[in-house]
Amino acid sequence: MTVHRPYAEGKCDKCHSSRSGKPIGLSAIFQGVPMLLEPIEKLCFKCHGIEQKAYLHAPAVAGQCSFCHDPHQTPNKRMLLTGTTRELCARCHSGATFLTQLDHARYGDRECIACHDPHAADIEFNLLPGARSGEPEPRKPTVSLPTSW
Ligand code: HEC
Ligand code: HEC
Ligand code: HEC
Ligand code: HEC
Ligand code: HEC
Repeated sequence: MTVHRPYAEGKCDKCHSSRSGKPIGLSAIFQGVPMLLEPIEKLCFKCHGIEQKAYLHAPAVAGQCSFCHDPHQTPNKRMLLTGTTRELCARCHSGATFLTQLDHARYGDRECIACHDPHAADIEFNLLPGARSGEPEPRKPTVSLPTSW
């Protein structure tokens, strides 16, 4: 289980509009979802920064972090929505969707982040150094954690 620190510490108002400790707002009334202080594409960038490398993964640079991460908590590491990146990436990259010319079967069932960075990379196709020759270097963080928030 990974719990997001602001959520664990009850700092709901870092992301949600609140009064008397209770989330409020129009969306709360109509959808049961407490109103966010910022639209999702800005919210996560209030505290996190993506490394400005040459190849930025489209959903990450667009701030659509919640396509892959839950804002509160999940049973998976880094609050990912799935237990493996094979499942996670397949939500968008499967069949003919954004994965057209490749035969990845030769890579067996290795995790996608063994060779690709989910946020940003110096090499095209968001590859990690060495990935092309089949010996990828372990990835380093590409989104920063806040020191003060
Ligand atoms: C880091 C930002 C962040 C923090 C901190 C946070 N939330 Fe959220 N929360 C979100 C986002 C993003 C959504 C998704 C909203 C949407 O789908 O429109 C959400 C959705 C929700 C929802 C509706 C969907 C669901 O998961 O049930 C509730 C209820 C909620 N939050 C309550 C809380 C409470 C209570 C806290 C504090 C303990 C909290 N949140 C802290 C970002 C945050
Ligand atoms: C108010 C500041 C704040 C906002 C807004 C915020 N975060 Fe965080 N986030 C933190 C802090 C604090 C940590 C923990 C840093 C540490 O462990 O040193 C963290 C950690 C994380 C981690 C690593 C979790 C772990 O334990 O491994 C992820 C992933 C993450 N945030 C995603 C998001 C996403 C997605 C959003 C937008 C929905 C978001 N954050 C918005 C403050 C924030
Ligand atoms: C929410 C949908 C979504 C998810 C989930 C997702 N991607 Fe993507 N990905 C995209 C989009 C959109 C593009 C940009 C496609 C384009 O520009 O034609 C992209 C582009 C890419 C590219 C570059 C393709 C190219 O031709 O340059 C790679 C590599 C990639 N993603 C790998 C991954 C990996 C690895 C994961 C899992 C960690 C992942 N993606 C998860 C939507 C997603
Ligand atoms: C062993 C390394 C390796 C693994 C594991 C790997 N890839 Fe790749 N991937 C590559 C290489 C290398 C390329 C560049 C094109 C080429 O040379 O085949 C690539 C290219 C891509 C592209 C862009 C090209 C296109 O056709 O759209 C996408 C998207 C992609 N990979 C997604 C994934 C996903 C999703 C996974 C996990 C299921 C994954 N990759 C696992 C090495 C890997
Ligand atoms: C395409 C899916 C995807 C998107 C979009 C995405 N992430 Fe991630 N994120 C991942 C994966 C996969 C990891 C690596 C988990 C691991 O270490 O195994 C990760 C790791 C992280 C970490 C830990 C530091 C690191 O780089 O390893 C933080 C913090 C984080 N993400 C925040 C964010 C924020 C903020 C956004 C939006 C700006 C975002 N992520 C968008 C998939 C994604």
